[in-house]
Formats: sequence, structure tokens, C-alpha cells
Amino acid sequence: MKTIDPRQYEHIVFFTGAGMSAESGVPTYRGRGGLWSQYRWEEYACEDAFAGDPKKVLKFHELRRAAVLACQPHAGHAAIATLEKQHPRVMVVTQNIDGMHQRAGSGNVIELHGSLWRLRCPDDGISGDIGAKYKGWKCEKCGSWLRPDIVWFGDILDQGVMSAAIAAIRRCDLFVSIGTSGVVYPAAGFPRFAKENHARCIEINPEANEMSSLYDESLRDTAGRALPELFVQF
Ligand code: OAD
Repeated sequence: MKTIDPRQYEHIVFFTGAGMSAESGVPTYRGRGGLWSQYRWEEYACEDAFAGDPKKVLKFHELRRAAVLACQPHAGHAAIATLEKQHPRVMVVTQNIDGMHQRAGSGNVIELHGSLWRLRCPDDGISGDIGAKYKGWKCEKCGSWLRPDIVWFGDILDQGVMSAAIAAIRRCDLFVSIGTSGVVYPAAGFPRFAKENHARCIEINPEANEMSSLYDESLRDTAGRALPELFVQF
């Protein structure tokens, strides 16, 4: 594929999934070595699990925080962050909770599935901290268990976050999807909004999946190799 001149596009959206962080060393969810082949999400990633054993769930998320902190953003994350500095309207819509885009320097990031770096009190709102361990497991004000501010199985996506993501995708004229299996809805349906807007749709994923036919072009390569070469330098 020829390199893309980003100046030809008004609004660019990068839509990312776990494959975006794979070369940083963060495991994906599905496939060989995927998180859900090692851990049952029913025990660690749903409201029932948290209600039944909050300590176990919080410990699991601390393990994930430690694992992510040991990883670094790669050249693909950097390429997106650099483009944002050169082009006024670049947006990342990510399903990832690892904060890698922000660590690479991206500022316009919509986190569809929440963040490993935030906790939520049912009464006193959201708090954030960075570190392998959470600062505390219970709310300092009311004593409730704090739950990771992450969209777990069975949860509904935050309406405001979802609307912002859909609006960004609906207005984009270049849509680049990277490293997602396209099986977890509603996020998996979002590329259709770009298609409906007649955006140029590009997929970066070493493997094809059920959503692949939607794309105008598919790069069967990794995020870390394909992204730094995708755009012309200007
Ligand atoms: P998956 O683990 O389902 O899919 C990862 C995708 O990345 C696969 O299609 C791989 O082929 C691709 N991939 C692997 N290595 C890659 C690389 N180096 N470069 C590019 N692509 C690569 O992850 P998601 O689609 O993100 O939800 O999963 C969606 C949601 O399911 C996650 O956000 C999470 C999970 O349950 C929540 O936690 C709510």
C-alpha cells in the first residue's frame, strides 16, 4: 500500500484494540496466550465477581497494573502521538484500558472500556492513580469498596463516552483500525459508522477476522511495523 498523506484528510480516527499493545508485551484477550485463556473472566471481570470477592478482583487488577507498568509504548503508539501533533484533528478511540496511548503522548483519547488507572466509588465518584498497587481499596470518605473503573462483562458502556466515540467516528474521513478481533459489542460495530460516512477504512491486523471484509484495505502486519510507515512525513 502507498503511504498516506494525512493532510488529505480532515478527521482521522485510530480505533485500537489489544493487538495495539501486543508488541509492548501486554497480552491480548483472545488467541494463544490471551488473558481469557488463562483467567476465567467470570471470576475476575464482572460485577458478580467483584460483589462476591472484591479483594480477589482488586488483586487481579493490581497484577495487570504491574504487568502494564513493566511494558513500554512502541513505535506504533509513537507514530499516532506524533501525527496528533502535526494534524489538528486526530482522535484515538481505544478499547484498551492500559493507558499506553497516553504514555506515548496522545492527548485525544477516548477510552471505551475504562482504565486500569482509575477506581470508582459508588457514592463518591472516580479517583485515579498510577502504580502497581492501588493507593487504597476502600473509599476514604465512605468506606465502600472501590471498583476498577473498567467496563466488565455484562456492564453497559458509559453513554457519554459512547456518544463521543460515535460522533468522532461518524465525522472521520480516514479510519484506521488496529489490533482488534471485532467480537466484543458494541465497540465491534463502531467501524460501520465510519463506513456509512464513506471514510477510507484501513485495518492493521496480522490476522483476518469477521469484520475484515468491511475495510477498503487490510495490512496483514503488526501495529509496531505498519504504523510508522503508514504516513508520509511532512
Ligand atoms: P482481542 O484479544 O480479542 O483481539 C486482539 C486482536 O489483535 C486479534 O485480532 C489479533 O489478531 C490482533 N493482534 C495481535 N497482535 C497484533 C499486533 N502486533 N499488531 C496488530 N494486531 C495484533 O482484543 P480486543 O479486540 O481488543 O474488553 O478485545 C475487545 C475487548 O474484549 C477488550 O477491550 C476487552 C476484552 O474482553 C473489556 O475488558 C471490556
